[in-house]
Amino acid sequence: MDLSSWFEFTFYDAIFLVFVLGFFLYWLTRSEQPLPLPPKEVAPLTMTDMTCEELRKYDGVKNEHILFGLNGTIYDVTRGKNFYGPGKSYGSLAGHDATRALGTMDQNAVSEQWDDHTGLSADEQETANEWETQFKFKYLTVGRLIKDGSEKADYGGRKSFVRGAESLDSIINAGAEDSKKDN
Ligand code: HEM
Repeated sequence: MDLSSWFEFTFYDAIFLVFVLGFFLYWLTRSEQPLPLPPKEVAPLTMTDMTCEELRKYDGVKNEHILFGLNGTIYDVTRGKNFYGPGKSYGSLAGHDATRALGTMDQNAVSEQWDDHTGLSADEQETANEWETQFKFKYLTVGRLIKDGSEKADYGGRKSFVRGAESLDSIINAGAEDSKKDN
């Protein structure tokens, strides 16, 4: 057996070696891609009820808070900016009543006007309810989405918070009691 043939260095070997060395150098010197920054924390809003028109300015552009209505309750979803921020997948929900969109799983089903949710099937309403079950444990509750001219509830100056299983009515009653004590 001719051992010298084992150590022959051909033109193709040279190309292969340059390629491997090049890749190794690239791997050594490549810069780490920075991870996207986590959404900035913004101070919670004072709890309040809002009309559709008032809600619309909380779209993450006109105001850095991103809010939407779901089943009559307004949630502050700013920490979900990567979902609801400008140009993001569900950005159309920002500043709107999201009930119909989430119930029908169509992010374009949002209205600029008051939506009484008529026409939603029982299944669609159930889907909207399931979203809300998650969101009340994940996002801050701000207040109620109300019709133009309706009276706003008294939250006693309380800041929006993750209410979990607490009902909005019990929060409103507690707020009214607090305000009575203060007077
Ligand atoms: C091809 C269709 C879709 C795919 C593959 C998809 C996939 C996803 C994924 C992977 C997430 C992230 C889950 C997480 O990280 O917790 C998400 C979140 C979400 N999706 Fe979709 N989605 C689709 C369509 C829709 C539609 C039509 C809607 C209706 C508006 C929707 C509403 C949402 C919402 C609201 C969230 C965010 C939930 C939160 O705030 O925690 N999705 N989706």
